[in-house]
Amino acid sequence: MGSEELEAIVARAAADFAAAPDPAALENAKAKVLGKTGELAAFRSSLGSLPAEERKAAGQSYNSAVQRIENSLEQRRKQLALAKLESRLAEEALDVTLPGRGRARGGLHPISRTWRRIEEIFGSIGFDVADGPEIETDWYNFTALNNPENHPARSMQDTFYVDLKDAQGLPLLLRTHTSPMQVRYARAWVDRHRRTAAMPPIKVIAPGRTYRVDSDATHSPMFHQVEGLWIDEDISFADLKSVYVDFLRRFFESDELRVRFRPSYFPFTEPSAEIDLQFASGPLQGRWLELSGAGQVHPQVVRNFGLNPEKYIGFAFGSGLERLTMLRYGIDDLRLFFDGDLRFLRQFA
Ligand code: PHE
Repeated sequence: MGSEELEAIVARAAADFAAAPDPAALENAKAKVLGKTGELAAFRSSLGSLPAEERKAAGQSYNSAVQRIENSLEQRRKQLALAKLESRLAEEALDVTLPGRGRARGGLHPISRTWRRIEEIFGSIGFDVADGPEIETDWYNFTALNNPENHPARSMQDTFYVDLKDAQGLPLLLRTHTSPMQVRYARAWVDRHRRTAAMPPIKVIAPGRTYRVDSDATHSPMFHQVEGLWIDEDISFADLKSVYVDFLRRFFESDELRVRFRPSYFPFTEPSAEIDLQFASGPLQGRWLELSGAGQVHPQVVRNFGLNPEKYIGFAFGSGLERLTMLRYGIDDLRLFFDGDLRFLRQFA
């Protein structure tokens, strides 16, 4: 093999490399020329049989050929790597001139809005906001509230019992109303002010979840109430009326409300009333909806607070948050609040 052939191999290899479209093709082209059975192998093995005086020059030609082939191989490798990088950069490029996608905005659930409004309104007239357990004892939920042992409110039909017993051996239950918070809060308050000469008034609201075995357009097994309690030496039913009606005016942002106090019965208040409000709009316009139970706290309950009912007196109320929300927005079915249907919920965002 002469030096012209060698030059031809170098030139062809350079052309093959340049034509290789990707690293795999390039490695194949390399094997074809530099591999064990490649085009240069025959030349290399012929070196040994050359006369000594020709061998040196031929060896140098061979080395130079290998060197040049490797150079062009390396050059193409770099080209291909660069091309790959460039195409990746082009593919992943950000077009900063595109308009933004924006960010989806969430909104508060209508019940949460009501909850916050209630806290704001009562907070502004000096009511504390308290929170308590949703799993209650029989004593706090019923007995302390003067609920007789055989009262239907205790029956299995409207109370969710829990498969756990309290210290008295009575089953725990999901609280059926927020009224146990009256007792919890008042007892803690009395305890805290035990050494104070004159106990400061108890003035609190306790919003939260409540549970009953009940389900229709105006009832749901889980619902929300807000309990209100104001106890001092001279808090009367007239105070209840003015505080509550004032709350409703601010909540509904209207002075034209049609509110009704209807005589009623609760074991823990005497006298007792139910407070109704008339729908001003929506499909139920003109219909009355019961919002709240209320009344003067029963002397036995005041005693259970740890207070002397001859000295301390006041009112309590318990209002349904779903009911307040239905009236505010003219909604006719309470179950809509819990379906999680965005078409409904978006209207309040
Ligand atoms: N707890 C009563 C209910 O859930 C409402 C109520 C609260 C009534 C406070 C009077 C006083 O129906």
